[in-house]
Amino acid sequence: MPTPPALADLEGRLGAILADHAACEGPLLPILHAVQAEWGHVPQEALPIIAGALNISRAELHGVVSFYHDFREAPAGRHMLKVCRAEACQARGGRAVEDAARARLGIDWHETTATGGMTLEPVYCLGLCATGPAVMLDGRVVARVDEARLDALLAEVEA
Ligand code: FES
Repeated sequence: MPTPPALADLEGRLGAILADHAACEGPLLPILHAVQAEWGHVPQEALPIIAGALNISRAELHGVVSFYHDFREAPAGRHMLKVCRAEACQARGGRAVEDAARARLGIDWHETTATGGMTLEPVYCLGLCATGPAVMLDGRVVARVDEARLDALLAEVEA
């Protein structure tokens, strides 16, 4: 993953993103997606600039950012574990994998470990319903996950 530009470049880069969306109808979500693509999260420092450009309140903007779990308010960890919480995986024992992931990492959904090593996110179907429980680690989808397999996966990335 390329290193995101430093926040020192924020005003310039954000200005370009806002200019790119100036003619866009309903530009807020596209802007937030572009900001997150640029920095890996939506930096707090960007909020007043975006709010000013779109003539909305900071509270309104914060409400949108926090409503959509796709938007991160802090940088993600070096690794990303997504655990399927959808019905088919739950029927195949996914709840135990969910509980084990949170317990092993010591964090809850949408959180990152204190070392910055791992972010844990729920996901709702990875397309492996017949071979669940399924997880995705750094973009790699893994089927038939149980607690032992989860431990092995976490050991691979030393999370
Ligand atoms: S329900 Fe988990 S992969 Fe489809």
